Amino acid sequence: MDVKEVNKIYLAEVTAALLRAAEFPDVPELLRNAMRYSLEAGGKRLRPCLVLGVFDMLGGESEKEKREQALSLACGLEMIHTYSLIHDDLPCVDNDDMRRGKPSNHKVFGEGQAVFAGDALLTCAFERMLENGLRYNNKDYYRAMLEIAKRAGASGMVAGQSLDLIAEAEKTMDEAMLFRIHRRKTADMLTAAILAGAYIAGASGVQLSALERYADKLGLLFQITDDILDAEGDALLMGKTLGKDEKSNKLTFVSLYGLDEAKETAEQIAVEADALLASNFPENADYLRGMIDYIKDRKN
Ligand code: IPE
Ligand code: IPE
Ligand code: MG
Ligand code: MG
Ligand code: MG
Repeated sequence: MDVKEVNKIYLAEVTAALLRAAEFPDVPELLRNAMRYSLEAGGKRLRPCLVLGVFDMLGGESEKEKREQALSLACGLEMIHTYSLIHDDLPCVDNDDMRRGKPSNHKVFGEGQAVFAGDALLTCAFERMLENGLRYNNKDYYRAMLEIAKRAGASGMVAGQSLDLIAEAEKTMDEAMLFRIHRRKTADMLTAAILAGAYIAGASGVQLSALERYADKLGLLFQITDDILDAEGDALLMGKTLGKDEKSNKLTFVSLYGLDEAKETAEQIAVEADALLASNFPENADYLRGMIDYIKDRKN
């Protein structure tokens, strides 16, 4: 299976659904433009791809309405992720001027409006998911929403962002803290995506727990490659200013171990993720297996 080709199909599907969910007719024009600016800027849509990839892998594709539920959660996750990027780029956080190949939200709309665009995307994500949830009336859908809320929030991605800033300010160089930050700020959102797709497909408890362990590895791998790409990636391909982590004394795999060891760690985690799939999903994990190499070797 060529994961990149499958993701292209998912990306088109998700982008169309996302823009339908983000028409915002009652929202003041400037706020609407700010919200849509970052959503339309694109990005890899990796979290939505994971929702759909896991759903399809677990055999859910035959049920049309369930597929729609997975798509609804995929869109919610992408809105939340997009809000997190807008806030991550603010001068009081990472102070980044470029995102998804365009000037960051606050560079175009100003800091105050960028804060509100983020707030509004986060709230809108839950508004849309709940609107749909009322129509579906499926307990698994609400379980998936709860998973998303927890992993996006104060004990998940926001926790990681908070710790990330503290580590930067205090110039912390500590391995346990590094893993904690990367798990919270990045792996939790990937885990939410994978588990959301699995819940809707009706995964068993054993499958959910195996997927959770795989997702943790994939999330760590994703953030390690982000750290490596910040040090030696191509800014045009990445669509953001690189070299910022070193300048701002970020605690990253590269700052703690150096590039070579960061790459070795990425290889090691990729092997562990693959082994988890081999022992728990020996037959049907092509998509998730392909995702490991895609993330490890990515250029953007
Ligand atoms: C960037 O995420 C933030 C991190 C967790 C490293 P992505 O690299 O998935 O960003 P987009 O969505 O493709 O722009
Ligand atoms: C994580 O890390 C970002 C979020 C959780 C939003 P980074 O700060 O490293 O992400 P980039 O490099 O700005 O995309
Ligand atoms: Mg950051
Ligand atoms: Mg950042
Ligand atoms: Mg980064």
